[in-house]
Amino acid sequence: EDALVAAGEKVFKKCKACHQVGAGAKNRSGPQLNGLIGRTMGSVDGFRYSKVFAQALEEGRVWDEESLVAFLTKPKTYMKGTKMSFAGLKKDADLDAITAYLKSVGE
Ligand code: HEM
Repeated sequence: EDALVAAGEKVFKKCKACHQVGAGAKNRSGPQLNGLIGRTMGSVDGFRYSKVFAQALEEGRVWDEESLVAFLTKPKTYMKGTKMSFAGLKKDADLDAITAYLKSVGE
């Protein structure tokens, strides 16, 4: 578990240009990702999301492990119209690790 979180912290280096986590995390070009699992999609105050995320918020869709893995595998396929410019994570090990890491950070 701890090793997986540590591996996930390394994977998060790919996200850091756009996302922050932890105490005092702020929105940058992407929203802060504290407490992501269980959070409603597109719901961070003060972040200007694309239409597809505004729609997900309206529908009350909630991030769980399955939707996070699907999104991170192919962001633009899972969320057609997203402005997240990220090719995606291809390795199952990286997807498991980033999920564990994001579950471990912030509230
Ligand atoms: C949105 C995760 C990499 C820019 C999101 C969301 C998640 C996420 C879960 C939705 C948040 C919500 O519903 O509040 C990640 C992870 C990354 C990563 C784990 C690395 C593996 C990046 C990178 C960029 C980026 C590198 C910038 C080049 C954005 C933007 C949004 C977003 C702009 C808002 C999307 C929209 O409104 O369509 N990201 N992201 N992300 N991310 Fe990322």
